[in-house]
Amino acid sequence: MKLTLRVWRQKNADADGAMSTYAVDGISSDMSFLEMLDILNEQLILSGEEPVAFDHDCREGICGACSLVINGEAHGPERTTACQLHMRSFQDGDTIDIEPWRASAFPVIRDLVVDRSAFDRIIQAGGYVTAPTGSAPEAHATPVPKADADFAFEHAECIGCGACVAACPNGAAMLFTSAKINHLNVLPQGAPERETRVLDMVAQMDSEGFGGCTLTGECATACPKGIPLVSITSMNKEWLRAARKAGKR
Ligand code: FES
Repeated sequence: MKLTLRVWRQKNADADGAMSTYAVDGISSDMSFLEMLDILNEQLILSGEEPVAFDHDCREGICGACSLVINGEAHGPERTTACQLHMRSFQDGDTIDIEPWRASAFPVIRDLVVDRSAFDRIIQAGGYVTAPTGSAPEAHATPVPKADADFAFEHAECIGCGACVAACPNGAAMLFTSAKINHLNVLPQGAPERETRVLDMVAQMDSEGFGGCTLTGECATACPKGIPLVSITSMNKEWLRAARKAGKR
């Protein structure tokens, strides 16, 4: 395949960025999108140019590091991560636009790499459970109803990639935050921090400069792990319950 790539280039957080155009040839339809970018970078290095900086780690769809807006869509045309997107989703001769996540809470560090540490701070605010030290407790000592276990697993699938924020017209982080709250709040292990978790994580989310949710649903459409939009409803319910208990509502 022969492709034209229009890639966002930006030297650092303070520099202005712009799209640069490159031609790549010899791309196999079996390559992943990141392998295609590797080919571009080999080409740039051989011609003495700076390679394109982009984030990745596992390349298996589990770490959430790869964060690319491809042709205007977070992670591109398939409902998967950019590293699991394959070039068979494109046609020979295509022009592909590649940009970083666009959200003020995710500032660009360089080229296609953004700073997603706002997500880390939301997790630090309450995305944990109190666990006694010592050996692991007997698995059957804390029974969990099947429906609650399924709900927890569904939300625990969130890999924190940030596609929800990138896809949202408001740059909201409600889907991510709700997934992280819900998967712990529904379990008995998460019960001791049930109220403080939701209040603190939502407060941290607000302080990071993410936009507000207007339920457009773009987040759930872009999510490579299928976190449902009703996750936000569950979080709002948890927040109201905790705020009432704390005398804030
Ligand atoms: S590189 Fe880990 S999810 Fe894409």
